[in-house]
Amino acid sequence: MLSESEPRPSEHLYAKVRHAIPPIEWPAFADDIDAIVALKKSRTAVILAHNYQTPEIFHCVADIVGDSLALAREAMHVKADVIVLAGVHFLAETAKLLNPSKTVLIPDRGAGCSLADSITPEDVRLLRQNYPGVPIVTYVNTSAAVKAESDICCTSGNAKAVVVSLGVARVIMLPDEYLAKNVAAETEVKVMTWRGHCEVHERFSAQEVRQLREDHPGVVVLAHPECSPDVLAEADFAGSTAAMSSYVAVKRPAWVVLLTECSMSDNIAIQYPSLEFIRPCNLCPHMKTITLGNIRRALETMQHKVTIPESIAARARLAVERMLTVK
Ligand code: 13P
Ligand code: SF4
Repeated sequence: MLSESEPRPSEHLYAKVRHAIPPIEWPAFADDIDAIVALKKSRTAVILAHNYQTPEIFHCVADIVGDSLALAREAMHVKADVIVLAGVHFLAETAKLLNPSKTVLIPDRGAGCSLADSITPEDVRLLRQNYPGVPIVTYVNTSAAVKAESDICCTSGNAKAVVVSLGVARVIMLPDEYLAKNVAAETEVKVMTWRGHCEVHERFSAQEVRQLREDHPGVVVLAHPECSPDVLAEADFAGSTAAMSSYVAVKRPAWVVLLTECSMSDNIAIQYPSLEFIRPCNLCPHMKTITLGNIRRALETMQHKVTIPESIAARARLAVERMLTVK
């Protein structure tokens, strides 16, 4: 409990996010931030947040932020008793796979993903039957049960390296059709794919990018590889959310557009206030189910615990750990 004279943790945090959050909205966040800071201490918890989380989560309560690959790597090394995963369900499952003795909480059990929903373990088993001997590479945006049927996982940050590391002429890459096609375009490997799409990234079109360039001459266009190959062909750079952040950090383009989820630009713009972000972004309704309110409730009630039956976890873990050995 804070005494009346002690400064509230949220007091100094507003300066960080004032470019993204109007002063009138801040009091609604401040109470939850103060409570979450105290609960993290009392529960010995850390919050891992994906780059698509809103600024009040990303900049004010998260201990570790990043793309799917960074969150997986970091989850493995967490010493605290509790991990709260501010992100979607597959990210929380990956954290649980890699650090099974920890309590992993997801603030909203319904935080799904259109890619994860596009494929079942039965689909993968059928593919293996039909294409014996062809390695199956599964995007981390899948359930643990689908991972368990796979040979190796990948993220948008290492998909090409994972495919090349297998040293084969042909792979099956599931379930993101566009990521698979974008990887195929960069390698000699024949990549067979599935018809899954990210509902956020599939909405961007090549025509939209051409129009952007006409409206904002000189703008630098960065695209996530879950966008279609047509969109990537119009972009200046393609990479995972972490790769986009690094591009902005290193190159500092004066005008930039990130073809990805909206909170990415909000979070990076806070770090680089002198850069201008053009924002034809799309919201991910699943990432947006996570709020300060349900993070606070997760820590108060220790709900919702992520559990994975050991018969699935053991095989899924192998696929994720194999991915983490790829340099
Ligand atoms: P990365 O952050 O790994 O690039 O993935 C984007 C994504 O869609 C996660 O849901
Ligand atoms: Fe899934 Fe796309 Fe949302 Fe990521 S942005 S969680 S891939 S629907």
